[in-house]
Amino acid sequence: MHLPGSVRNLILIGFMGSGKSSVGREIARRCELRFLDTDSMIRQKYGKSIPEIFAAHGEPAFRDEEHQVLLRLRAAQPMVLATGGGIVLQPRNRSVLRSLGAVVWLTANEEVIWERVSRNQNRPLLRTKDPRSTVRDLMETRYPLYRETADITVETSRLTHQEVANRILLAIRNWATSRDEDQN
Ligand code: S3P
Repeated sequence: MHLPGSVRNLILIGFMGSGKSSVGREIARRCELRFLDTDSMIRQKYGKSIPEIFAAHGEPAFRDEEHQVLLRLRAAQPMVLATGGGIVLQPRNRSVLRSLGAVVWLTANEEVIWERVSRNQNRPLLRTKDPRSTVRDLMETRYPLYRETADITVETSRLTHQEVANRILLAIRNWATSRDEDQN
């Protein structure tokens, strides 16, 4: 299986727990593309976990690193890229993401997100007194940014990773066809 010829990279954005890494890996496998993940690239560079990076260097350093990673990826081979949930916060990232390829936003409703993110402790932004309302607040501020950045939106709430991958591949084909027709 291949991505449409006019789509160089497939970029996955979305809130924590939306399934970007698992779905990204699945699509990369099916399309025989490289899979990259901005969080893993940053973890590798620091040799630390994300909570350790936040604790030792602060969120601004992490955000700056996210931007540097994106800039480096402009020269990379075709790939499927999963991004950290906060990547859309910086306007400069939103334009780099769009220039990299087709941007797919994975959405899920708040209950599903909460169910998924409350299972593990590796998200420093959710280490608050009331993580449930932190999720709600962050979703509210970020959803417009994901919406503004994405070419395609796929709702994932009741779907398996395989089903989400199927929907993305179908949507991307339709999107590329209508975009190519518009350009001709
Ligand atoms: C963050 C999401 C995390 C990670 C970091 C900050 C965010 O990635 O980049 O903890 O600001 O939403 P995931 O979306 O993969 O959990």
